[in-house]
Amino acid sequence: MVNFTLNGKSVSADVPADTPLLWVLREHFELSGTKFGCGMAQCGACTVHIDGEPTRSCVMPISSIEGKQVTTIEGLMTTEQGRALEKAWVDTQVAQCGYCQSGQLMAAAGVLDKAKGPLVREEVLSQMSGNLCRCGTYNYIADAVISAQKALS
Ligand code: FES
Ligand code: FES
Repeated sequence: MVNFTLNGKSVSADVPADTPLLWVLREHFELSGTKFGCGMAQCGACTVHIDGEPTRSCVMPISSIEGKQVTTIEGLMTTEQGRALEKAWVDTQVAQCGYCQSGQLMAAAGVLDKAKGPLVREEVLSQMSGNLCRCGTYNYIADAVISAQKALS
């Protein structure tokens, strides 16, 4: 049994210790916003926050989550930061097929958390380069992150 905090609530999961967090979120807790892309920590579609740090959930065994705080896209969207990102994403018309976008938003929240001042496009592109988008929405994402930062300041 693994006990952890999921989107602000104390939860338990009775699953084999090596089950990836991604599958526990999707199958056990029915939080389908976090996506499976590569399954090898290469694309970022499965990004969640663990203790506030953007992390690939597809390669994170549930046993390593004991006592930690996990935030998914569903949890992020209940926050002021999440709502600002969502509005910026819509205003900028970022999404194409949309499959990668929950991971992009979780990574974007991490960029906003770490920002020491006003962000510029190159900085956002560089910091989010590990999150792949087959539809090539990178420049729109960077513009939306900058717009969200302005809205939150
Ligand atoms: S599905 Fe986890 S990084 Fe691609
Ligand atoms: S919007 Fe289609 S993969 Fe990113």
